[in-house]
Amino acid sequence: MSIIDDEGVSNESGNEHFQDVLDARLSRRGFLTGGLTTAAAVSLGGVEALLNAVPAAAQELEEAEDTDVGREGRWGQRPMLGFERVAVSSADEVVVPKGYTAEVLIAWGDPVSNGPAFKQDASNTAEEQARQWGMHNDGMVYFPIVRSRRGLIVQNNEYTDDGLLFPDGVNNWTAEKTKKSLNAHGVSIIEVAKRTGFHFDLGRHRGKWDVVRPSRFARRITGMTPIDIAGPAAGDPRLTTSDDPTGTRVLGTLNNCAMGYTPWGTYLACEENFNGYFRRNGPQTTLEKRYGITAAGFGYLWHTTDKRFRVDEEPNEPNRFGWVVEIDPFRPHSTPVKRTALGRLKHEGAWVQEARNGRVVVYMGDDERNEYIYRYVSNLPWRQARAQGINPLDDGILYVAKFHADGTGEWLPLTPDNPRLAGWSLNDILINTRGAADAAGATMMDRPEWIDTFPKDLTAIATLTNNNRRGSTPPSVNNPDGSTAAGSARPPVDAANPRAINNYGHIIRWYYRQDWTEPTFGWDIFALCGDPANPAHSSTIFGDKYGSPDGIYVDPSGLLWVQTDVSTSTINAGAYVGFGNNQMLAAHPETRETRRFLVGPSQCEITGVFMTPDRRTMFVGIQHPGERPDDLPGDPLNPKQFSSWPDGPNGGRPRSALIVVTKDDGGRIGS
Ligand code: FEO
Ligand code: CA
Ligand code: CA
Repeated sequence: MSIIDDEGVSNESGNEHFQDVLDARLSRRGFLTGGLTTAAAVSLGGVEALLNAVPAAAQELEEAEDTDVGREGRWGQRPMLGFERVAVSSADEVVVPKGYTAEVLIAWGDPVSNGPAFKQDASNTAEEQARQWGMHNDGMVYFPIVRSRRGLIVQNNEYTDDGLLFPDGVNNWTAEKTKKSLNAHGVSIIEVAKRTGFHFDLGRHRGKWDVVRPSRFARRITGMTPIDIAGPAAGDPRLTTSDDPTGTRVLGTLNNCAMGYTPWGTYLACEENFNGYFRRNGPQTTLEKRYGITAAGFGYLWHTTDKRFRVDEEPNEPNRFGWVVEIDPFRPHSTPVKRTALGRLKHEGAWVQEARNGRVVVYMGDDERNEYIYRYVSNLPWRQARAQGINPLDDGILYVAKFHADGTGEWLPLTPDNPRLAGWSLNDILINTRGAADAAGATMMDRPEWIDTFPKDLTAIATLTNNNRRGSTPPSVNNPDGSTAAGSARPPVDAANPRAINNYGHIIRWYYRQDWTEPTFGWDIFALCGDPANPAHSSTIFGDKYGSPDGIYVDPSGLLWVQTDVSTSTINAGAYVGFGNNQMLAAHPETRETRRFLVGPSQCEITGVFMTPDRRTMFVGIQHPGERPDDLPGDPLNPKQFSSWPDGPNGGRPRSALIVVTKDDGGRIGS
């Protein structure tokens, strides 16, 4: 545990912080351009423009600030797996390899800046929660301020366990409870710093990371934060409500699962299972059916006090969710923006890759059984678009993937001039993206989760976590008229999804010849998951067993990290007996050698991973430790029934947390 509110560090940061920012960015821009860009950035808009002019971690590496990049990095030999594997574990703790240390940086309820402390009985108010780290953290990005020593971490808070969020759980529900639950959702932004080891830090654990408190950048974005709607569908009548007749401003972002980040320094939070908060008692429309807006929802009680979640009264409110939200972490007072050109689906993440022609390509999975993989391509090179005042995510073309059996594939345009979409307007497509993809003839996939890219290899890689309806009977497919109920089809196996009852999931890759914007691609399967020692699993893993891959991350050296999300109902049970708790592994992208690096505490999911550019610090998300295996809300009378992590005997309930993994000798993670 290291929930730090370190006055020394805070004071230091308060005084030096902004100069640090400027110095670091000035020196880096100077390195790149001889200072010309710095001058331009300052003249364009002063400090804020300068902050935003600097891209995030992966690009930073390419600025070659790290002297051994040439030997080990993307242009040189691939890195090797240098650590000792950890065994499968069912312990209620985080396990990392010998010579590594994992420590908690911040957990649900801790203040993001100077703010209220977490109360172990969960009695913090809704207002206090709005200034504290949200619950159940997920995808995250580290944005450097001073390279690998100081930065911002932006992390999604995907959902809440309302049984653990209050002293008496979901009993005696009130409007205050709805507000606290909404405030525990969204996105959390903190400033973090690594201790220097200078004389004033002696005896204080050199290299340890602290949350900087107070921080001018620390921020919560919640299910109540005003958010703009932009792009083609903004203002569409289907996006208007009684509170917002303009269809351009919505309260909050929900169920932010995975993420992305842009070359212009912003964060993308992606709304996944937004449908579960809404209740629809009357007959479902085709659109509601396709997105799973039902009478029961996921059991949340928000609708009892907030009419936004009663679809019979506010039929368009669900249409304002299911988008990608752009957040500028360096402008703490900026309004986040939902970017409708990226389509409406159960967005897992939005991974941005700059094409050689300067356009941005965004890869997105729609995580539900038999849903699709999408690609967005900006119409203009992103620098040109921004110079013209156009957000590159507002002006582009959305595509959906078709995987052919011969190892090729194509991107089907979701545009009104696609003959299969005759009669669809652009806004029809963007608001009912699933239906448009059905009509276009996309390939139904085994629950697309995270996607990342190997920039040098023009290769993307995606996890397909599992699909227990693939190959089951009677067979059915998503109807081309968009009338299928979400997740209900039972498609036969195909080349890209080759296993019936795909309990363990797989990982697929696709690649291009010259550039990321090509309309066709080649593809192959990186791994069929399961236990390679058990022939019944037909696993092609070369190394340690795992299943239900979810988070995937290509680190700055090109090494692949895989995180698992075995459902709490099957952790170490059923098909997963012997797999232990959820875990993270490293895999060599060429040899495919796979080695278990980390195992999480009981009943958790491992989700969210990012490294500092120097690869000496890895941030990892531990989500929902202690979640009940029966999918019911946690029991407030026995909150530690399944886990006491991370607070142990002194804690009142398990907490999702962001952890920091470092190598004890200060070396690179995984090396
Ligand atoms: Fe929130 Fe698809 O995992
Ligand atoms: Ca996920
Ligand atoms: Ca998942």
